[in-house]
Amino acid sequence: MTGRPNQRDRSEQSRIWERALITGASAGIGEAFARLLADQGTDLVIVARRTDRLEALADELTARPNPIQVEILTADLSDRDDLDRVMTRLRTPAQPIDLLVNNAGFGTVGDFLDQDPGREATMIDVNIGAVHRLAHAAGSAMADRGGGGILNVSSIAGFTPSPKSATYGATKAFVTSFSEALAVELGPRGVVVSCLCPGLTRTEFQEKAEYRPSALPGFFWQSAEDVAAAGLAGLAAGRIRVVPGVHNRVATGLARTTPGGVVRRVSKLLARANGK
Ligand SMILES: NC(=O)c1ccc[n+]([C@@H]2O[C@H](COP(=O)([O-])OP(=O)(O)OC[C@H]3O[C@@H](n4cnc5c(N)ncnc54)[C@H](OP(=O)(O)O)[C@@H]3O)[C@@H](O)[C@H]2O)c1
Repeated sequence: MTGRPNQRDRSEQSRIWERALITGASAGIGEAFARLLADQGTDLVIVARRTDRLEALADELTARPNPIQVEILTADLSDRDDLDRVMTRLRTPAQPIDLLVNNAGFGTVGDFLDQDPGREATMIDVNIGAVHRLAHAAGSAMADRGGGGILNVSSIAGFTPSPKSATYGATKAFVTSFSEALAVELGPRGVVVSCLCPGLTRTEFQEKAEYRPSALPGFFWQSAEDVAAAGLAGLAAGRIRVVPGVHNRVATGLARTTPGGVVRRVSKLLARANGK
């Protein structure tokens, strides 16, 4: 989308974004973003490491009655050369991208000292480094054109310390703080920035982190579709911080108004109760 329509105009258009680049579109929340944006008629650039998954998604989205254009960009976002290719695509003036969804990420669970420091460093590269550099590439191109949107996927884990997921929680604290500051800086230049902070969401995330939360009832879990839909609606409404799910909003609201010592103790008890 070019120009600087206000948020009201945006939410009233059926095709809100012209072309979106989504990282981590091969699974989970990123794949849900791709389907929802395709439903709105948004052309896509889908990014992840698993080309076969991206190809299957592209085949599905281009075989619809109202097909969209889908570009596949296979990239490992922890690899500098791959990341440079994605940044180059974001800056390419032909077929410009007016929405960046910085979604790719993963977590680790367990005592910090038991973690492989190399894997933790890779997590920092993907969850922070890639988000940071892609936001710069997209943000500068969008600000030059006078319009665009950036939706960064963080987590409610970023609002409190996360014992037994210390590094993951800290990466998401970065994403939330960074996004809120960018929203203030880029808003006047026509670029809307939102930060989506989901709680537990049914995807491949927990399996990859080798983690099965044991103590939480079903209502704590959301679907990837509901989470992605909340993110897109929040962005369209110009909301800087989007926490999907009433239970997550209550929990994060309580955490903000409770003394730090109590929050840390409760975080430790919850981590233990959930078998971390
Ligand atoms: N699920 C939850 O409970 C939850 C809660 C709060 C926040 N989140 C956040 O939501 C986002 C999406 O996670 P999800 O739940 O959808 O997990 P998921 O199902 O595991 O999907 C993660 C996506 O990230 C991609 N990815 C991971 N490492 C990558 C790398 N090095 N380079 C490129 N792509 C990479 C994966 O693609 P490839 O493997 O094909 O590369 C995949 O498409 C993450 O930022 C996560 O932190 C999830």
